[in-house]
Amino acid sequence: MKIDILTLFPEMFKGVFGSSILKRAIEKEIVDINCINIRDFSKDKHKKVDDYPFGGGPGMVIKPEPIYDAIESVKAADSRIIFLTPKGKVYNQSIANSLSKEKHLIFLCGHYEGVDNRIIENYVTDEISIGDYVLTGGELPAMVVIDSVVRLIPGVLGKEESFIEESHYDGLLEYPQYTRPREFKGHKVPEVLLSGNHKKIEEWRKYKALELTYIRRPDLLKNKKLTKEEEKLLKQIKEDMNKLL
Ligand code: ADE
Repeated sequence: MKIDILTLFPEMFKGVFGSSILKRAIEKEIVDINCINIRDFSKDKHKKVDDYPFGGGPGMVIKPEPIYDAIESVKAADSRIIFLTPKGKVYNQSIANSLSKEKHLIFLCGHYEGVDNRIIENYVTDEISIGDYVLTGGELPAMVVIDSVVRLIPGVLGKEESFIEESHYDGLLEYPQYTRPREFKGHKVPEVLLSGNHKKIEEWRKYKALELTYIRRPDLLKNKKLTKEEEKLLKQIKEDMNKLL
């Protein structure tokens, strides 16, 4: 996959791609990530890229020409051009899955100021928000999206790091994990995990994943098609919780 990031602050990305799983994905040539400075496309002698908003009001707006030229310098026929904005569709794992199958992603990051809306209306294919809060720019959201997308590309995670069992993979939050020691400051690891009985462990994990999702994120259960076994477990979870009340 090729990823191009159009930004006024390319230095913000230094370090992010130089460590851990993203670094490995770049080294293995599974992904090729480039930062492009929108300012390099300014035709202004002072490299100015913004101007006052028509109609007045506070702040500045990034002009369309340097963004258009920056997009044109990297765009291919099948590129997805993603603008990071709090007005966008709220990001989730299913969007991450869909983006991970693309050949070319272009991320357009605004910073402080707005972007001339003609770029968004005519050239952007996706508007994404990473949540209902406002950041100073699209750079951090772009990093969040890129990290969550790249780890889904086949070959990026090793066998030991599989995402098959983690939160949101199958529409549930992940079951709790424990490691040695068996007892820590008087707090014991759940007995079933020490039993060696794989069927019982599987059942316990499914119960815990469903329980956690039911308590913390019932909205996720509404969007998920439960198997017969999961429905039975959920019924039991509700009964068990009623007993505690
Ligand atoms: N830019 C500023 N805030 C944002 C958010 N929450 N998501 C995406 N882009 C943004």
